[in-house]
Amino acid sequence: MRKIFISPSILTADFARLEQECKLLEKSGADWIHCDVMDGNFVPNLTFGMPVVKSIRKCVVLPLDVHLMIDRPERYVTQFVSAGADIITFHVEATDKVAETCKLIRDCGKKAGLSVKPSTPVEILEQYRGLFDMILIMSVEPGFGGQKFIESSVEKIKTARRLFNDALIEVDGGINSETARKVIQAGADVIVAGNAVIGAKDRRAAIENIRNAGQ
Ligand code: DX5
Ligand code: ZN
Repeated sequence: MRKIFISPSILTADFARLEQECKLLEKSGADWIHCDVMDGNFVPNLTFGMPVVKSIRKCVVLPLDVHLMIDRPERYVTQFVSAGADIITFHVEATDKVAETCKLIRDCGKKAGLSVKPSTPVEILEQYRGLFDMILIMSVEPGFGGQKFIESSVEKIKTARRLFNDALIEVDGGINSETARKVIQAGADVIVAGNAVIGAKDRRAAIENIRNAGQ
């Protein structure tokens, strides 16, 4: 059985208690911490940038899974690396320098992720084969937590699994134990969950329910 990684998103956490929130996620069995960076331009929402990632880095030892929803992400790669990011994922729709940005991330010794919005076919990534470590399939429109899972994402994950057997496949948006079952069975390796974990009373149970949903 392949390993399933759970990457809880802190997007809907209480930012005044970020240290406790992140430490609790670490204690509750999270594998990574998913940090949603939004610029109010590539997506309509604004969140946080390098200083917050740097603060989180001091609180936990877990890998930081940084999801850049920003235009021209190449401008900020080295700064996120300095802040402590371990995996840097950006959107193919956000730059005309996709290959260069992957190379920049990898040259910094970090893992490069490429993300596609719900309307972008995953086949578009074939031209970048070998340049990235992970594919992030958005199963909601990027920008906000708490949205409904888009069912057509399941077929997209199957296609991604078939086309890119050597990359991790991460899924983000609208994940609960029911949708987790579908995406894990379709071939996802990394599951991002915001509300389903942060909103749960028992975070350990929520994480384990999602992890085991595909069995
Ligand atoms: C949406 C973000 C997600 C979001 C997931 O743009 O990328 O990471 O926080 O939240 P849920 O799991 O609540 O849909
Ligand atoms: Zn995300």
